[in-house]
Amino acid sequence: MLAPPARIARAEARDRPTVLALLAEHTPETDVARRHSWLYEGNPHGPAVTFVAYDEDGTPMGLTSLFPRRVMVRGEVRTGSIGGDGYVRPAYRRRGVATALHRACLALMEDNLRAGEGVEFMYGAPEPSNLGALERAGSRAITRLRRYGRSGPIQSIFRLGGALRGQSRTRLVALDGADPRVAAVFAEAALKAAILPVRDPAQYAWRFRTPSRAQHGFVVLEGDAVVGLCALERKGSMVALVDFLAPRDRWSATLRGAANAAGGEALTTITTDGSPAATDLVCAGFLPRESKGFQVLAPDKHPRLSTLLDPASWHYVWADGDLDHVL
Ligand SMILES: CC(C)(COP(=O)(O)OP(=O)(O)OC[C@H]1O[C@@H](n2cnc3c(N)ncnc32)[C@H](O)[C@@H]1OP(=O)(O)O)[C@@H](O)C(=O)NCCC(=O)NCCS
Repeated sequence: MLAPPARIARAEARDRPTVLALLAEHTPETDVARRHSWLYEGNPHGPAVTFVAYDEDGTPMGLTSLFPRRVMVRGEVRTGSIGGDGYVRPAYRRRGVATALHRACLALMEDNLRAGEGVEFMYGAPEPSNLGALERAGSRAITRLRRYGRSGPIQSIFRLGGALRGQSRTRLVALDGADPRVAAVFAEAALKAAILPVRDPAQYAWRFRTPSRAQHGFVVLEGDAVVGLCALERKGSMVALVDFLAPRDRWSATLRGAANAAGGEALTTITTDGSPAATDLVCAGFLPRESKGFQVLAPDKHPRLSTLLDPASWHYVWADGDLDHVL
């Protein structure tokens, strides 16, 4: 029987070389030092919490991380996180290393909840193999994260319809640095949302200042009025709507205007099954495509557990995740 990890320890500044070495094995095509300084150190909602597993002889076996994100839950700002960069070296797989790492994350969340500070839940859509390990550690797979696409004739029909309805007044204006309009849109959008990951000027500026610089934030304007936020990534004629935010009562109309203004021959985006936004996407001509499991890891005693486990509470978008390019 293969042994589980002898030790799980939280990575400190002196462990940076170990973390970078494991990340370089996991994603050899990535400049891991740049990713580390952007995602692990530069996040305005807090530095990454990284756990490393070690064998009896001190060899690092694998790691996982929580990237903090303030999240509005039923009108209260709490400290959530997305999970990411989970990796176990091939020689140590299928002996419970990832499960033990995720259990260490959950134990930390339980401590943080008692102490009243620090990350207290994690959410996201991992690879299926990692979802198995997460579920063993206590994650609940509550819904599916689904991609949507709008292309070809549907794209043309909605553009034409939008122009006839006067939605061509909608413009996207690029954001440059921390912009107070982000906070204003978020404050209005948060009023009617059960769960909404916080967009604030510093967070929004940081999120799109990524190593690849592939994604860009915009304010959505109708005439001179700011009606929403969005973020886009372009590749050839394809456009990914990596973020979209508007007050609930104007969500659908603003989404149509922003989608028409985004350009491109094909648009793609994601949201979670059960989200009110999923219906709006279909009404705006986006067709449902492939999906993967969306999970929440949170202590049983979390005071907002029922909201966190309710698929109807969530609207997860690419910009909530750690991918700095999706196309
Ligand atoms: C995914 C990964 C982290 C799992 O690490 P691990 O230490 O082998 O996982 P565990 O031993 O804790 O697995 C626990 C359970 O998860 C599931 N699981 C793990 N790896 C799996 C795989 N490759 N295929 C299907 N199920 C898998 C199984 O149910 C497993 O229990 P079992 O071994 O009794 O069947 C590891 O395979 C890895 O680093 N893969 C490459 C990078 C990657 O995909 N990272 C995830 C990004 S979200």
